[in-house]
Amino acid sequence: MNETTAPALTLEREAELFFHSYARLPLDVVCGEGNYLVTRDGRKYLDMIAGIGVNALGYGNARVASAIAEQARKLIHASNLFLLEPQFKLAEKLLALTGFSKVFFCNSGAEANEGAMKLARKWAARVSPEKRQLLSLTNGFHGRTYGALTLTAKAKYHEGYEPLLPETGYIDFNDPQDLEKKVSDKTAAVFVEYVQGEGGICGLSQEFLEALDALRAKHNFLIVADEVQAGVGRTGKFFSYQHFNVAPDVICAAKPLGGGLPLGAIIGNERVADVFTKGVHGTTFGGNPVACAAGLALIEELEAKDLMRRAAELGAFFKAELVRLMRKHIQIRAARQYGLMIGVSTSREASYYVSKMLEKGVIINATNGNVIRLLPPLTITESEILQVVAALDEVFSAEWRST
Ligand SMILES: Cc1ncc(COP(=O)(O)O)c(C=O)c1O
Repeated sequence: MNETTAPALTLEREAELFFHSYARLPLDVVCGEGNYLVTRDGRKYLDMIAGIGVNALGYGNARVASAIAEQARKLIHASNLFLLEPQFKLAEKLLALTGFSKVFFCNSGAEANEGAMKLARKWAARVSPEKRQLLSLTNGFHGRTYGALTLTAKAKYHEGYEPLLPETGYIDFNDPQDLEKKVSDKTAAVFVEYVQGEGGICGLSQEFLEALDALRAKHNFLIVADEVQAGVGRTGKFFSYQHFNVAPDVICAAKPLGGGLPLGAIIGNERVADVFTKGVHGTTFGGNPVACAAGLALIEELEAKDLMRRAAELGAFFKAELVRLMRKHIQIRAARQYGLMIGVSTSREASYYVSKMLEKGVIINATNGNVIRLLPPLTITESEILQVVAALDEVFSAEWRST
């Protein structure tokens, strides 16, 4: 039985097989081609969410595919008991791109944040046993493991899971007064997304960052940048913090980092360089050689095809088109954009637009209730952007007519 003759996968069967944790789209996806996903019945969908921000190069990138195949033939897994060339090369690249000092590889965004929380507490314990508080911002998202979940302020993610991690707390997003109230000498770290993803594509203000920087100097804490969604080229620079003049001490990266394979990284500056000593943190799979080889190929491709500059340019083009739509359709409240990380606030639940756009062959995503989130592959073209804008225009117009 080949792919097209096999029975189609259904949501009913999904419900029989799996815990009901995902609200999946009813698409039986069998492969990807360029910036499109292809279903079993041969329909093609322009993919504006790219595996939730993972597939920075779209589908079927030759450089990444060859790197995976070549490394898989040599060595798929050996563990961190050994010296592994793909890890070394990727670590060298990440340190060169950031000017930071040390890397720890793991498998996911949540795991990177989890490790960074441990790193922060270990670092702070040297200063004082009282220095244990881990803070994060409201409206943020950091993952689903207990530590990362604790950092994630939204109550809906906590329900039924309490108690969460102690000595943690939330600072109101972009509120320097609240920041000043919450931090103290007991603060070990403040976790921030310089550009919040799940929160609706909202960037930190310069005022907030400057206050954070000054309070870091006063109270001696770490700034941890969760770059899981905004990092690895998406915003037009390798990491989103590089758009701002306040650098973090620790960076958590994942999503596109492994070229589509599971890979996360904690990257630390000199302040934390000697915190993790032998045996204090670890993982079996983290830094898997195939994932590292794929990640290195991904970065090479970003550089060879100048995709970060393109992300900045195409993002600005996309934003201008959205602003044009905004003048036409009152349902659009705002359009926010950092490279190819785009949020469109609408006057109703954004999930409505997800199904309407699907009917037009475009996959979009809804986040934070009323925000359409667009995280296209960085390989998206101008004409594909115009295709999305035309489909949005039609959907907003049809909604307008039906009310
Ligand atoms: C900013 C941010 N941090 C952490 C995570 C968690 O990453 P993962 O799903 O790989 O655990 C996500 C996932 O969407 C994210 O957007």
